[in-house]
Amino acid sequence: MKHALRFSLAIAAIGSIFTSCNNATTTATTGKDSSTKAGITKVPWGTADNKEVSLFTLTNDKGVQVKISTYGGAVTSWVSPDKNGKPSNIVLGFDSLSGYLAKPPYFGALVGRYGNRIAKGKFSIDTAHYTLATNNGTNHLHGGNKGFDKQVWDAAVSSDNTPTLLLSYVSKDGEEGYPGNLKVNVRYTLTNDDELKIEYSAATDKATPINLTNHSYFNLSGDPTTTILNHKLMIDADNYTPVDTTLIPTGEIKAVKGSAFDFTTAKKIGRDIGQVAGNPGGYDHNWVLNKKDTSLSKVAVLSDSISGRTLEVYTTQPGLQFYTGNFLDGTIKTSAGQPINKNAALCMETQHFPDSPNQPKFPTTILKPGQQYHSLTVYKLSVSK
Ligand code: BGC
Repeated sequence: MKHALRFSLAIAAIGSIFTSCNNATTTATTGKDSSTKAGITKVPWGTADNKEVSLFTLTNDKGVQVKISTYGGAVTSWVSPDKNGKPSNIVLGFDSLSGYLAKPPYFGALVGRYGNRIAKGKFSIDTAHYTLATNNGTNHLHGGNKGFDKQVWDAAVSSDNTPTLLLSYVSKDGEEGYPGNLKVNVRYTLTNDDELKIEYSAATDKATPINLTNHSYFNLSGDPTTTILNHKLMIDADNYTPVDTTLIPTGEIKAVKGSAFDFTTAKKIGRDIGQVAGNPGGYDHNWVLNKKDTSLSKVAVLSDSISGRTLEVYTTQPGLQFYTGNFLDGTIKTSAGQPINKNAALCMETQHFPDSPNQPKFPTTILKPGQQYHSLTVYKLSVSK
């Protein structure tokens, strides 16, 4: 919420280098003429809410490709080679828009206005009391019935050499119960170092809670029919926020030391997962990152020895929701028809803590008029033999 002026200028600058993309044609590219040339291309991808949806493909110099839909701003695939040079997709996603219109649990999507839960869908700012849509039992989850993941975003592409997609959405005053017209910009960049950068900025005309994140489900093996339980994970966090049976934080900031929640040294995700109580059980918690300020810091490292892939997570955010796909139960199928089962993939959602608007001890998530919201998260992929 700080640095208001700096980021107003940044938003203005972003706007000036982007080209609006309302027609369904190929856009900026660099390099040789082939389907894997570096740059960014666009194809029509159907309609939702009577608006045209587009699918963008960002390709870097190495031929690594990330596809992003303007429906929900969702990362639909991230194809990169494994240690044997064989390319595969490391995120859950669908080949067509219909998969997303069937409401999968936020596959790859941009999540907002408030990522994760707000207890009973209620909060107050000063003397004003607000009631949000309750779409997760008695709680509000990921922005409500029609959060940012179910909206068609406007798109523009950058004219410089690094493939960059700017998505914009205006969330109206009262949408899902939230106060204020909120203008949101999300900038996706795929670098030649195989980093997917996601930069969020927003401004409001009334005080509102805000917590933007990306809900990609990773399986570094590239095979969603295997679980992620043999992936190793390190999270640079000495504490986490315990939850009640409805996954609302109790307010306690609890040490991970000596518990299944201790990922301070890399360990297999499956090692202690059986100790995490709950129905259906498994990790679905917010880690309190050790970083002390809003600078960009490495907060997690995920690796898979079979594919040789490693994914590092850098963020400016104070929290990380590590979710092991516990509610995936085989009902949803991949585009190839394979059931997506429990633990088929995991999320590392960089964020503020769940239910912060009702938790006075958590860092504030209230954005006020005149302030500029800004956060940056980088997922950096590498491969080793
Ligand atoms: C939440 C889970 C939820 C999942 C899909 C995660 O961010 O923490 O509880 O099931 O999103 O909605």
